[in-house]
Amino acid sequence: MIRFDEKNATFTLEGKGFSYVMGVVDGVLEHRYFGAPIHADDDLSLFRGEAATSFEARVPGKKSQNQILLEAPAYGRGDYREPMFLLRGEEGETTLDLTYAGYRIIRDHKLDGLPTSFGGETLCVTLSDSVRGVSVELFYTVFDDCPAVARSARITNTGAGKITLLRAYSAALDLPDNGYELITLHGAWAREREPERTPVPHGVLSVDSKRVSSSAPLNPFAALVTRTTCEEAGDAYGVALVYSSSWKIACEGAQNGTTRLTGGINDFAFRKTLAPGERFDTPEAVFVYSDEGLGGLSRAFHDYARGHIVNPAFVRRPRPIVVNNWEATYFDFDYERLYPIIDAAEGTGIDTFVLDDGWFGRRDNDSAGLGDWSVNLQKLPEGLAPLIDRCHARGLKFGLWFEPEMVNPDSDLYRAHPDWAISCPGYEPLLSRRQLVLDITRPEVRDHIVAAVNRVLSENAIDYVKWDSNRNVGELFSSASDACDRECFAHRYALGLYDLFDRIVLANPNVFFEGCSGGGSRFDFGMLYYFPQIWTSDDTDAGMRCRIQYGTSLLYPLSAMSCHVSVCPNHQNGRTTPFATRCAVAHLGATGYELDLSRLPEEERAAIKEQNELFRRDEDLILSGDLYRVADPFAGKAFGFLVVAKDKSKAAFTLVRLFGETNAERLIPRLPGLDPDAAYRVEETGEILHGDTLARTGLPNEFTKWGDFTAAVYHLTRL
Ligand code: GLA
Repeated sequence: MIRFDEKNATFTLEGKGFSYVMGVVDGVLEHRYFGAPIHADDDLSLFRGEAATSFEARVPGKKSQNQILLEAPAYGRGDYREPMFLLRGEEGETTLDLTYAGYRIIRDHKLDGLPTSFGGETLCVTLSDSVRGVSVELFYTVFDDCPAVARSARITNTGAGKITLLRAYSAALDLPDNGYELITLHGAWAREREPERTPVPHGVLSVDSKRVSSSAPLNPFAALVTRTTCEEAGDAYGVALVYSSSWKIACEGAQNGTTRLTGGINDFAFRKTLAPGERFDTPEAVFVYSDEGLGGLSRAFHDYARGHIVNPAFVRRPRPIVVNNWEATYFDFDYERLYPIIDAAEGTGIDTFVLDDGWFGRRDNDSAGLGDWSVNLQKLPEGLAPLIDRCHARGLKFGLWFEPEMVNPDSDLYRAHPDWAISCPGYEPLLSRRQLVLDITRPEVRDHIVAAVNRVLSENAIDYVKWDSNRNVGELFSSASDACDRECFAHRYALGLYDLFDRIVLANPNVFFEGCSGGGSRFDFGMLYYFPQIWTSDDTDAGMRCRIQYGTSLLYPLSAMSCHVSVCPNHQNGRTTPFATRCAVAHLGATGYELDLSRLPEEERAAIKEQNELFRRDEDLILSGDLYRVADPFAGKAFGFLVVAKDKSKAAFTLVRLFGETNAERLIPRLPGLDPDAAYRVEETGEILHGDTLARTGLPNEFTKWGDFTAAVYHLTRL
């Protein structure tokens, strides 16, 4: 709900579990409060953020803004903290004085060319600087069902000269106190999203990506928590960007004991010039608040994502259970090699066969063929039809892999259009995985990709697409644009990417699209707007997956994570884990198989049908349940996820003991989140225990200490 109190010039945003308050003082839009619901009608101007002893506070007239909590901090009016905006005029002037000009409330707000949260109500506050000729609209979208505020800004040049944006972040949040700790998600290929917790110092602490991708080394997310915040208790503020290109989030401990969290498009190598009348939209930054610790923060993000980012047509629909041939065959396949995999899937509950990399161009390894989206007739002389027919005959759907943004120098596309690949004049093009990136800032390149991919989709019965992107952009240059446009190349790449998704993903509503980027290197809310699920990591080892899925769950719901069972020894790290553990961990997301079904040991093959039935039985929990992380694999001993139905009628508890231990200590995680007064039957043990008992004592279990990476799954049903 959005309220404006005219008398006190105060805006109040309220939703499930939070209040957000702003006030206008002397034309300045000040931040008042963000947190658990309060009586927002109280006089919050008492908490303006000015230090009591501030000399300036006692002097009449326009004040330096350095002590104030600000909603849209700009540079040039005495605020020396990290600004949200930095603008340069034609004469090099950088002062910007944003003054309140009015507000309006919007339904169905949509940013220009950018994925935008839906299903909320949007407050738009307009600020302007008449000297510079700049108007800034601040958007705040709130939702009935989750403690989230999606913020962004639209900057319009209302003057007569050009202005250049040197920084245009999405939002800033000033908290009135300090002593916070910053939680971020770092990682690498096949080791994505490991939580890291760092005290916020006086000064600036920042995380970013310069890769023209949201990236594996850091995810576009940060949380501020107090020193005592833990998994299920304490204040937690989170911010995540609805954005898939280079980004930055900065956190500043300021001299007056306040803390600022700000970020958006990375200002590294970024400049955007606006001619008179032109406007620029920043991507959304979504802030959530919880007083139930990191678990509450995650559940807030999960509800936000499932309700307001992921395509409603897919978000709660049972997911395909796929078998993918990548780890089964890599590039080395023909009909005879693939048929047995398809045949073995029949009757197992697997419903989709996905043909991965290698089906097109002259693609026998990663050195050739990318960009040539017609069937590799040496491998598959009769095209895709025999495979698709075979799938249909076995009751399966057919899925196909694409990497539309890329090109190999050894490809017909590159030979015809070498200038379509990104490179910097005078230098050898920068290769990575022996491929180059297509310059999708160019409309003709996008038109070509759209036509090529849509042609394959229209000529063949394809139900599922895995959209991959296996390298980062290392040169910020387009041979087709002018120097001016090149200055915000990374952002123009994002706009080009979203245009491709609009014209391929949204234009094929009957095809299920999965996102991927060398595993989970582009896992962000911008991608989730188009792709209901993303391949979480190329690391399919169940042990590593415990960590990767744990970290990913900090903000992304289980339904967003694609998780497959693969063979042992694992292809990424050589580890051997029990088949049941691999299934249990792969069931904590959109499940599938990444192996040659026809070569599995008999007992594993026999178990697949039962495993898939088990998954389908609990799939509604994965698609819409509340997640409680009850054992942290980074702490060393165990991984534990409890998923509770929204109505608390049932729950599934998965526990993995990482290493077998002799004379091991007890491992009985407490199980919060159930109905405290209701009795639950534990299906596997027959025990009956109440929700409050389970929350206080945990579930007594006979969990084995024999062997590494053993798993147990318990199902709880309310009586
Ligand atoms: C990436 C993906 C893999 C597979 C390969 C194919 O690494 O993450 O799942 O599709 O590309 O080259």
